[in-house]
Amino acid sequence: MENEFLNITDKRTKATYDVPFFKGAVRAMDLRKIKTGPDDFGVMSYDPAFLNTASCQSAITFIDGDKGILRYRGYPIDQLADKCTFLEVAYLVLFGELPTHSELKDWTDKITHHTMLHETSKKFLEGFRYDAHPMGMFISTVAALSTVYPEARNVLDPESRKLQIYRLIGKVPTIAAYCYRHSLGYPYVYPDNELSYAENFMNMLWKMVEPKYQANPALARALDILFILHADHEQNCSANVMRSVGSSQADPFVATAAAAAGLSGPLHGGANEEVLKMLDEIGSKDRVKEYVDGVKAGHGKLMGFGHRIYKNYDPRARIIKWAAERVFEVTGRNTRLDIALELERIALEDEYFIKRKLYPNVDFYSGIIYQAMGFKPEIFTVLFAIPRTAGWLAQWQEMIQDPEQKIARPRQIYTGYVVRDVVPLEKREVAAVKGT
Ligand SMILES: CC(C)(COP(=O)(O)OP(=O)(O)OC[C@H]1O[C@@H](n2cnc3c(N)ncnc32)[C@H](O)[C@@H]1OP(=O)(O)O)[C@@H](O)C(=O)NCCC(=O)NCCS
Repeated sequence: MENEFLNITDKRTKATYDVPFFKGAVRAMDLRKIKTGPDDFGVMSYDPAFLNTASCQSAITFIDGDKGILRYRGYPIDQLADKCTFLEVAYLVLFGELPTHSELKDWTDKITHHTMLHETSKKFLEGFRYDAHPMGMFISTVAALSTVYPEARNVLDPESRKLQIYRLIGKVPTIAAYCYRHSLGYPYVYPDNELSYAENFMNMLWKMVEPKYQANPALARALDILFILHADHEQNCSANVMRSVGSSQADPFVATAAAAAGLSGPLHGGANEEVLKMLDEIGSKDRVKEYVDGVKAGHGKLMGFGHRIYKNYDPRARIIKWAAERVFEVTGRNTRLDIALELERIALEDEYFIKRKLYPNVDFYSGIIYQAMGFKPEIFTVLFAIPRTAGWLAQWQEMIQDPEQKIARPRQIYTGYVVRDVVPLEKREVAAVKGT
């Protein structure tokens, strides 16, 4: 026990403190007892963008970025992608164990019976302009579900939470498909309860006049694998938003919409759309070297490369690369894949990328697969949001049930004026306005 303290000497006061370790970390609140006097607030930790701050304890997802490991509830991602369906994995992520046969049947029934959207939500979607970005439509429609299910505010009731989870997991593919069809001007297709989660999504996306939609099994499996790989990724930007918004006891529909907004940025889930734009900008394999040289000279970033946590290969990228090959066997080879492979080859041999530990991440290949399947880049982030809804809800449930959690409220180091008097409008002189 003697060694399980961090011994700190405050050279200002010469006082020493034994700060206990808690699961390998120190509690930031323990630093507050380090003071220069009774009026001193105490020491805070300063950590912009949470580079070294654990904001919660979590038993959902484990990542070892240096070793390239990703596990949900202890199961390696490659085994889950190989042996399970997305709905099994969503159940695992949400409830902690893989479902038994009867649990899976019950779970699948529950999800299937919550796939329909209220007709008013359909009308809500119709109000968007024909060229609205699908992610904006998705975020707004998920938030609008909060008005359809006002009882969802009852976040402390476990039964109510479960019902909202069924609704959200069931409805996000329907919303996504409706956003897609809205942007194409096609009529909406109602869910088909006889199909699997991925097949039903494909049905709602692509069914035209045929009486029954038949999904290509290889493409449906590839989509399901992509869903598995995207189900959760511990405390990333959008999960942190989900927890943070949920910590105010906002309902899970608006919290999920907020998390999806976090996902929409180009540095997070929006990256796969950017990868496609980048590959099109490069245009051909022989221009890859020139493009990489431009990035090294400071002209932009290689989209789909680098990760805050993975400083080795992103384990999801390896599985996605494999899935891409399966998809291309069905759809025919796409020149973008050749450009991507060449880009990966050149970057992985280049000192700039090696030194900074920049490897392809999950978004590098997912966009190429989606495009080969017929999706437009604008919808890519929505495809990411469908499975990640399971992860967000798991993070939200865990946060609500954690007795240590409170409303999220970081501290700041104030750098503005101490105090000054207001000058009446007629006496104010023009001054440069800071930070507009
Ligand atoms: C994911 C990402 C935001 C992580 O950022 P981060 O952990 O804060 O890493 P940093 O921005 O501190 O980058 C460290 C160094 O690598 C460089 N770098 C990071 N990502 C790079 C990329 N994709 N291409 C080129 N250089 C990159 C930075 O310029 C920096 O170089 P420097 O040390 O010379 O200043 C970042 O790698 C990125 O923007 N990647 C592209 C977008 C993307 O694919 N996002 C999807 C994530 S799943």
